[in-house]
Amino acid sequence: MSDAPGKISVRCAVNGEEVTLHAHPFARLLDVLREGLRLTGTKEGCGEGECGACSVLIGGELVNSCLVPVAQAEGAEIMTVEGLTDGERLHAVQRAMIECGGAQCGICTPGMVLAAVSLLQRTPQPTEADIREGLAGNLCRCTGYMKIFEAVVKAVDSSQ
Ligand code: FES
Ligand code: FES
Repeated sequence: MSDAPGKISVRCAVNGEEVTLHAHPFARLLDVLREGLRLTGTKEGCGEGECGACSVLIGGELVNSCLVPVAQAEGAEIMTVEGLTDGERLHAVQRAMIECGGAQCGICTPGMVLAAVSLLQRTPQPTEADIREGLAGNLCRCTGYMKIFEAVVKAVDSSQ
C-alpha cells in the first residue's frame, strides 16, 4: 500500500514492538506517538525543547520528542513511559514517584520518570549532584523538585 500524498512510512520499534508509522516527514515524533499510536503518556509542555515533558528514550538516549521529525525515527528503538511497566508491575522509579508524592499535575511526570530511568542506567548509584544534573532538562511547576529527587533516591534504595 502506498503512502498518502506527502506522507512517508517510517519503520521503527516502539516499546519493543515493530511498527510502521505513516506521517509527514516533518511531523513531530511527539504527535505521531500520541495521535498515531495513542501513547498519550508522552506529554507536551513547551513544544520547544525546553521542558522535557515530551521525553522518550531513543536507542537508550533521553530525547525531547517535540524536536524530532518522525523521519529521523527510521530504524530507531523508541521507549515511552508506557514501555516501562512489566504487565501490571510498575518500574521502581514509577513506584517511588507514587510513594514519595513526586507527581501532582503529572504533566512532567512521564518525562521525569524516563530521565530518572536513563540516569540510573548510566549511573546506578547517583549522588545528589548526579540526580540534579540528570533531571536538569525536565521542568516541574508543581512539586518543587524535592519529592522527585527523593523518589529517585528511593528507587535506588529499592533496587538494592
Ligand atoms: S514539550 Fe518537548 S521539551 Fe517541552
Ligand atoms: S507534577 Fe505538575 S509539572 Fe510536575
